Amino acid sequence: MHIPVLLDEVIASLLIDQQGSYVDCTLGGGGHLERLLEHLKAGARVLAIDKDVAILEQSRQRLQSPNITFVHGDFRDLKEILKQEGILEVDGILLDLGVSSFQLDMPERGFSFHEDADLDMRMNQEQDLKAWEIINRYPEKEIAQILFDFGEERYSRRIAVAITKYRKTESIDSTLQLVEIIKAAVPAAYRREKHPARKSFQALRIAVNSELEALREVLPQALEALNVGGRLCVITFHSLEDRLVKEFMKNRAKDCICPSQSPICTCGHQAELKIISRKPIVASKEECEANPRARSAKLRVAEKLSGGTTIGKEELWGT
Ligand SMILES: C[S@@+](CC[C@H](N)C(=O)[O-])C[C@H]1O[C@@H](n2cnc3c(N)ncnc32)[C@H](O)[C@@H]1O
Repeated sequence: MHIPVLLDEVIASLLIDQQGSYVDCTLGGGGHLERLLEHLKAGARVLAIDKDVAILEQSRQRLQSPNITFVHGDFRDLKEILKQEGILEVDGILLDLGVSSFQLDMPERGFSFHEDADLDMRMNQEQDLKAWEIINRYPEKEIAQILFDFGEERYSRRIAVAITKYRKTESIDSTLQLVEIIKAAVPAAYRREKHPARKSFQALRIAVNSELEALREVLPQALEALNVGGRLCVITFHSLEDRLVKEFMKNRAKDCICPSQSPICTCGHQAELKIISRKPIVASKEECEANPRARSAKLRVAEKLSGGTTIGKEELWGT
């Protein structure tokens, strides 16, 4: 079962109008959405997006509600999805990034380093790229870079060398085969810490699903879609993701974006966002004890301002 993180904090930050219009870009098991629904009144509307069709269908069955429109799609296409659904007004957008426990619990999907499965890791099963291609086809340097950048894996080079050496004689087809290669590549002391394949599996998942690119693309679209006063709530689980969200919010909350050396302001830029949470909101000790996933969760919240220089919605949506 997937336990939603920072549930009360998300609802308190997101809900500005009980009859408003909301987008859950990462529906997953629908934990956040279910709580949001409890607060919504007739007339409210929610668009629920997930790129994993199996999860989307599961949540569609569970959360049957006339207020929700379910969409199988990628949030990096948010603007297009809103356009297709004819949604012009959005009061709140939620992004709860990463993988859902439902995905980890489906061994055949290849996300788990505890279960044997094909090297897949695709959230969207219609996508071509699987973890198999990265492990069996990518050059050693690129594998090392992925493991280092997305997994902060300190033995990234050693693991990449072991992978490329192994695949010269035999292809690496399964998750447990990869786990054994990783175990053999890292020092014994490291094997005794947390699971030695944990970081590599996270890195591969992020690469397979282009998670950082999708986040980079959705943020400006989310900002444009929001009504004035609308809230953007993003939960991240990885330092790279959090940095991206923090920088985006910081830049869009600035009135002047002239180079620091210019003596006077010539840009005429106006802040588009107000940052609601200067510091990221993190889970309480009790929540972290009850749900270890919550330990790395960071929630950032921003509010759309009226003075922004984003183009008018009519122009944006082509209406
Ligand atoms: C952490 S889970 C969300 C959990 C959910 N908030 C809940 O309470 O159950 C993240 C979900 O987002 C989906 N997802 C990740 N990246 C996506 C993307 N680019 N577009 C659409 N869905 C995405 C995943 O398939 C997964 O189901």
